[in-house]
Amino acid sequence: MTEERLGISEIGGGTAIFWTELELWAGEGRSTQRNNLRYLCAKLRIHMRNLLFTLPILMSFLCLETAVLSAQTTGAPHLEKRGAATQLILDGKPFLMLSGELHNSSSSNLEYMKPIWPRLKAMSLNSVVTPLSWELIEPKEGSYDFALVDGLIEQARDSQQKIVFLWLASWKNGLSSYEPVWVKQDTKRFPRMVLHSNPVEILSPQGAATEEADARAFAALMKHIKVADGSEHTVVMMQIENEVGVLGDSRDHSEAANKAFASAVPAELTAYLKAHRETLYPDLKDWWDANGNKTAGTWTEVFGDSERADEIFMAWHYARYIHAVAKAGKAEYDIPMYANTWLMGDTTPPGEYPSGGAEPRVMDVWRAAGPGLDFYSPDIYAPNFTEWSRRYHRDGNPLYVPETRGGELGAANVFYALGEEAGLGFSAWAIDSEASDTNPLGQSYKAIAGVAPLLAEAQSKGDVHGFLLDNNRRTANFTMNGVTLHLSLDKSFGSAATSAFGLIMATGKNEFVGVGKGFRVTFVARADGGQQVGIAGVDEGTYEDGKWVAGRRLNGDENEQGVAWRFDSKQVRTEKVELYRF
Ligand code: DGJ
Repeated sequence: MTEERLGISEIGGGTAIFWTELELWAGEGRSTQRNNLRYLCAKLRIHMRNLLFTLPILMSFLCLETAVLSAQTTGAPHLEKRGAATQLILDGKPFLMLSGELHNSSSSNLEYMKPIWPRLKAMSLNSVVTPLSWELIEPKEGSYDFALVDGLIEQARDSQQKIVFLWLASWKNGLSSYEPVWVKQDTKRFPRMVLHSNPVEILSPQGAATEEADARAFAALMKHIKVADGSEHTVVMMQIENEVGVLGDSRDHSEAANKAFASAVPAELTAYLKAHRETLYPDLKDWWDANGNKTAGTWTEVFGDSERADEIFMAWHYARYIHAVAKAGKAEYDIPMYANTWLMGDTTPPGEYPSGGAEPRVMDVWRAAGPGLDFYSPDIYAPNFTEWSRRYHRDGNPLYVPETRGGELGAANVFYALGEEAGLGFSAWAIDSEASDTNPLGQSYKAIAGVAPLLAEAQSKGDVHGFLLDNNRRTANFTMNGVTLHLSLDKSFGSAATSAFGLIMATGKNEFVGVGKGFRVTFVARADGGQQVGIAGVDEGTYEDGKWVAGRRLNGDENEQGVAWRFDSKQVRTEKVELYRF
């Protein structure tokens, strides 16, 4: 009997039926064991039966294993450093987000959203930054309602869109209006800030219970998203809170905040400053240097007795809170998470803009406060788009622009963000107001979508440049593949472009692909090469399923009789140029 048990159990998948049969068989009497033939037949019968029984189990294990393996191969949406770029990887491939952010209240109602989705699709968006508020998710403490989340995910899928959810919870634009009413009315448990000696209706980041409640709700949300979307990956990223910071004062003056402000700067922060001294953002470094690079002391001792110390203090406390919310969410479902920022000019005092938000000058403080957030983003409404982009694309922080202007301006800026700063994505604010198939940003999105796989590869190889030209910056030069590309505003037969935008990728030793409008390119081989270059041919075209489909051969007036690679001002075009060297 023991021997049989062992023999049978070698097959694996031992089952109750199987054991019962064996025991019965054994129980028939040891004498039967002497009958070898009968013994073998019975054993074979049992093996066969066992196989039949275990096959489906084995198969389902195999399927499960395959599912687990493929989930591991593709994984949840995540950020990956690929060569020169940090990219959002979706189902194994880089995904460049061509997005818009909805008005704050649009996504609070599924019926309201219904007619918006087709317009977003018609504008060639592939993703939508979609507000989602705490008050609607947890109207009663501990009781969650995810019907809206499920509905939005379903609508997005029907419209082939991805979602970046925007968690509007403790703060939005420096104020607190999206927390549920059970939080609003309990000022004892969920303390408020004091500004200029007045208690105000803004949650204080000092409130441990508030942080816990926000984090708990966010964790529940992420847990739900994992169940609803863990295999389809419609939700690709999460923004936590919105443009946080103190407005109207440079810091919170509540009792708890005053106590914390009079205490020592946390050792994690000073250790970070010390360890990253060489790469600190220049303003922060200057303030720290000016006060003697102290590694211990109160906030004013380390950063000086000014509003800047207040700003750094607030940055630390918002960051610490938001990292904790992110961490709780990531423990349930780990997808990229970020914070966005209301930007302000360098000399404006903190408090006139939200003091403590992740401005470039305090981004190091946010980074020091924890690992919950993956990156920090600018909401760029200011005219100097390129400068703000550069300030955020630095020291390992990738550029993602969750809010900016759309229309003509956005149509140009998206090329700079994705082409020059290896951006993860670009999102025009209030997209539901402007979405249409004739929107200029939509034309840019359509053209960029056509070259997206190529662009993602060029971003990682560092083989792409994006640019904006106008009457203040009429030319630009880039060197790629040993050739200098000289760009200028396009002109032809007396008509001259006044602005231009685009991106150019090096796609082969003598081949470049460009997308944009209003510029012309001439080529100069590098002086040390001793060679000259000429234009072998220019084609306009499109990429279909990754394959180049050539349209017109552009020659004559269209390439200045072989002298320049031209992109006229009429529309955004995709063109390929082949060079020869001599
Ligand atoms: C910036 C905010 O982040 C958005 O939610 C929205 O309120 C816009 N400002 C309005 O201009």
